[in-house]
Amino acid sequence: MATIGGYEVIDHDYDVVVVGAGGAGLRATFGMAMKGLKTACITKVFPTRSHTVAAQGGISAALGNMGKDDWRWHMYDTIKGSDWLGDQDAIEYMVREAIPAIIELEHQGVPFSRTEEGKIYQRPFGGMTTNYGEGTAQRTCAAADRTGHAILHTLYQQSLKNDAEFFIEYFALDLIMENGRCRGVMALNMADGTIHRFRGHQICMATGGYGRAYFSATSAHTCTGDGSAMVARAGLPLEDLEFVQFHPTGIYGAGALITEGSRGEGGYLTNSEGERFMERYAPSAKDLASRDVVSRSMTIEMREGRGVGAEKDHIHLHLEHLDPAVIAERLPGISETARIFAGVDVTKEPIPVLPTCHYNMGGIPTTYKGQARSWTAEDPEATVEGLMAIGEAASVSVHGANRLGSNSLLDLVVFGRAAAEYAATVVTPGATHDPLPENAGEEALARLDRFRHAKGGTPTAKLRLDMQRVMQNNCAVFRTGEVLQEGVDQLNDLWAQRDDLNVNDTSLIWNSDLIETLELDNLMVQAVATINCANRREESRGAHAREDFADRDDEKWLKHSLAWVNEKGEVRTEYRPVHLQTLTDEVESFPPKARTY
Ligand code: FUM
Repeated sequence: MATIGGYEVIDHDYDVVVVGAGGAGLRATFGMAMKGLKTACITKVFPTRSHTVAAQGGISAALGNMGKDDWRWHMYDTIKGSDWLGDQDAIEYMVREAIPAIIELEHQGVPFSRTEEGKIYQRPFGGMTTNYGEGTAQRTCAAADRTGHAILHTLYQQSLKNDAEFFIEYFALDLIMENGRCRGVMALNMADGTIHRFRGHQICMATGGYGRAYFSATSAHTCTGDGSAMVARAGLPLEDLEFVQFHPTGIYGAGALITEGSRGEGGYLTNSEGERFMERYAPSAKDLASRDVVSRSMTIEMREGRGVGAEKDHIHLHLEHLDPAVIAERLPGISETARIFAGVDVTKEPIPVLPTCHYNMGGIPTTYKGQARSWTAEDPEATVEGLMAIGEAASVSVHGANRLGSNSLLDLVVFGRAAAEYAATVVTPGATHDPLPENAGEEALARLDRFRHAKGGTPTAKLRLDMQRVMQNNCAVFRTGEVLQEGVDQLNDLWAQRDDLNVNDTSLIWNSDLIETLELDNLMVQAVATINCANRREESRGAHAREDFADRDDEKWLKHSLAWVNEKGEVRTEYRPVHLQTLTDEVESFPPKARTY
């Protein structure tokens, strides 16, 4: 026990510490534990309540269970979907590892849906094609429309089986850095108010995305990008944050997700004239075009007065033509969601939907082994000793400017496993830790203390809502320099209001006011980085659609953005080259091509 900044601190030593217990965090946790490493997993929610539980439609892999398939086609689709911003070596790694990863999940106990012959059922998903864009692939392995739920429970069971140690309902505060090396992480036990200092040879951030920076999001309220904010506060860069995915089918008004798998099973979109408008925008892929394309098309329909409803502000998704038995077997979850959140019986009437913030392509830059990257002018690919990141918190970058549906669950398990493999090569079980500086963790506790005793005039909920509205209005599906700059200015004002926050309750035990304030602070770091990077990237690519720079500009912008945020909320940007080279010589790289849909 140490006393730092007036707080008593409980010390822990582990070989490795994983922060976050979603799909990526759990896959890394049990993988590391299985390798004999003493592994701690810190999580702010009970593991099976992590946001992966909400993933619906499935996990991609070129298994070829329901028609010919090839990992090279999957690779091409992912690169094309990324609008050529994805790193091709990392993408090759992911799509090849996808196949054994699914078999492994099946053996670990994931109850996948089955074909008549008993194989894993696979459904079509947006942007997934055969033969480099010629046909529609059935590549997305599904457990009905509750695939994330099935996978998350299995991974938690595996973690328990392998004796990983969990610190549940612990809120991670900040990294402990020493001379550029990550040494550990500070955390608050929300249940009893105790403060903990974890020392590890590798600290692996698996803390998910920051969807809650937006007003309407499919993400859980817990998706506040805590790990990425900790990395930013450690003076390290975040990558490609301007690429924010809007899922075409969030329920109008509620934001709850209706899986793309519903269109994979034959669902389609119409405007107020009953027209299947996707046939105009994407004559080949239609309703199964990639999400950026579908979300933009829907937005144009609504802007041009062909939205549905009195306000012409949403679109209809039809499933009522499908066989009710198919809906009951393959889409039971979204049928319930539509009934609860839209009052709709999907077998009889369309669901009102709207593009809704769903996924952050950007995050903590990493190698495909999970090592966090820093950056120097001499070495734009430099890595950070002791720090790793995986899952939506990371930018590997396999999704580039736009992620294909069902490549996210895949990313979680493939790179969660890769992180465990990497940690096992660099950490010796039980290796002695160098002593920490006595005051290690002091800054984290000073930040905690500052918010805990904040006695200004601005409630956290108000500042959060103001930030969410700016992001929703000024940095959404379509963007212009003028609107982005207005958003930058507004967020600068809001940043200053962080000094005027008010936290009424000073307790450390179940103080949701304090936790939400820490989360808001985390969100704001990523909101300012996102909008500034979007303002600076003068082209359209993937989910980043600039009306004033409508074309993709490979000459100037075929590069990853890296952003550093300082204490004043100022954002510095640098750039890192995209990896256009493959990992092996078993496939040729795919040079950038003009877009076709
Ligand atoms: O639509 C969905 O089921 C979402 C899948 C994904 O984001 O990968």
